[in-house]
Amino acid sequence: MEILDKLVLPQSAEHIGLLHYILTLVLALFVPFISVVFGGTFTSIYFLNRFKKTKLPFYKKYSIELIEYLTINPFAGIILGLVPLLTAIIIVAQLLHTARIQTVSYLALSFIFVLTALILIYAYRHWLVSIKITDFDNTKEENSRFESSSFYLRSNYGKIGLIFLFIGIWFYTAAITSATNFLTWSFPGIITSIAAPGVLLNLLIFLTFALALSNAAFLFIHLYWKREKETVHSDYTKFVKDICSKAGLRASIPLPVLIAINLFSFSETALSGSIFIYSVISIVLIFLAYHLFYLISSKNEYKFGSVIFIVLIFGLAALIIKDQKAMTNATVGHSLVLSTEYNRVFSELKGEGKIAELNGKEIYDVRCASCHKFDQKFVGPAHFDVLPKYDGKKAQLIAFIKNPVKIDPAYPPMPNPGLTPKEVDAVVKYLLDEYHRQKK
Ligand code: HEC
Repeated sequence: MEILDKLVLPQSAEHIGLLHYILTLVLALFVPFISVVFGGTFTSIYFLNRFKKTKLPFYKKYSIELIEYLTINPFAGIILGLVPLLTAIIIVAQLLHTARIQTVSYLALSFIFVLTALILIYAYRHWLVSIKITDFDNTKEENSRFESSSFYLRSNYGKIGLIFLFIGIWFYTAAITSATNFLTWSFPGIITSIAAPGVLLNLLIFLTFALALSNAAFLFIHLYWKREKETVHSDYTKFVKDICSKAGLRASIPLPVLIAINLFSFSETALSGSIFIYSVISIVLIFLAYHLFYLISSKNEYKFGSVIFIVLIFGLAALIIKDQKAMTNATVGHSLVLSTEYNRVFSELKGEGKIAELNGKEIYDVRCASCHKFDQKFVGPAHFDVLPKYDGKKAQLIAFIKNPVKIDPAYPPMPNPGLTPKEVDAVVKYLLDEYHRQKK
């Protein structure tokens, strides 16, 4: 988004690190909340339709309670849904400042859809909750209100809201996936980038997790929270327990496999040990939730109702941290460009007038050290072995770094590091200085 590029300043390296932490925090609010709202609305509409067909009072009560408790209230929609998403847009615009990448535009689109969806869903909630629930008597009068023509209209708010929320979540996953995958940074066109296999996989994980989490959330509220406040109708509790634990179990079964597949789809630039560890933590927690769902559904161990929700929230948090780590890894090079730019802008502001020198060591550490060491061979040859031949031939070395050619059959070809001429000068200067310093 070019408008945003003009508004934000380049960031210092410390600031970039801080922004990544804040981003993880705001997404840890947004993702669980939107998941529960999506799962709750979906299930509420589903059971309202079943009530229409069967006239079973539990279905109606369940449908109303789902939307009432899981969407909390419109204020929560703003604080947990909209504000974090807006904050995320601003942070990502700073992190990816000047990078021509679709992430920020997708997040902005996501915001528009989520905003519309929440307005519709809260309208649907307002209508459903305002229908007085005369506990369990299924009176004629009350049912006729459900059958009035406004019923269809109002329940459509819920359905359209759900569709908007789905599209909003889709754009959100497209944004996050593009930011964690450096290889797709060149914009491939809207359809290909939105329907890319990686995006669809992440979307599937999001929605499946949403269903598991919303069922766990309702169990938590019903078995743990409300239990203390009012006497819960025991038949109804049994009904809720059956439905939620089975639906939660079904939704969580495919999750570990999906997360494992996702791990293999990361590009090499983004993959690191911590990403692997966070994925494994998440998978282990989902397995745990899976067993707890099972215990509740078949052994009637109600006391686990509160634990599942907490376990799944931590599982989701692990996934969010994993994506943020991947994004940090994938944007390392870009962050370096930004902080160099920051140093330049800052020294101009201070009136030093001269452009800050590109830091050769920083470039070397990020772009070269992953393959080279000075004193021993690594992916590429040890600098001590090859640099003697460039003694007094700096121009040749510069030419090689700008455009590496195949030299030693014992090594794979060196990829082009893609540096600007100035960066090459800086890194070669550092390389030669360091070589002479260490040789002494
Ligand atoms: C992905 C791994 C990788 C990265 C990143 C990388 N190199 Fe290399 N480098 C190699 C390999 C492999 C060779 C051996 C190529 C050959 O002999 O054909 C090599 C060779 C070299 C040589 C010796 C050339 C010669 O004449 O024998 C120099 C000098 C060098 N790299 C410097 C750098 C610098 C500076 C950077 C960072 C800007 C860098 N490399 C980044 C893998 C890498």
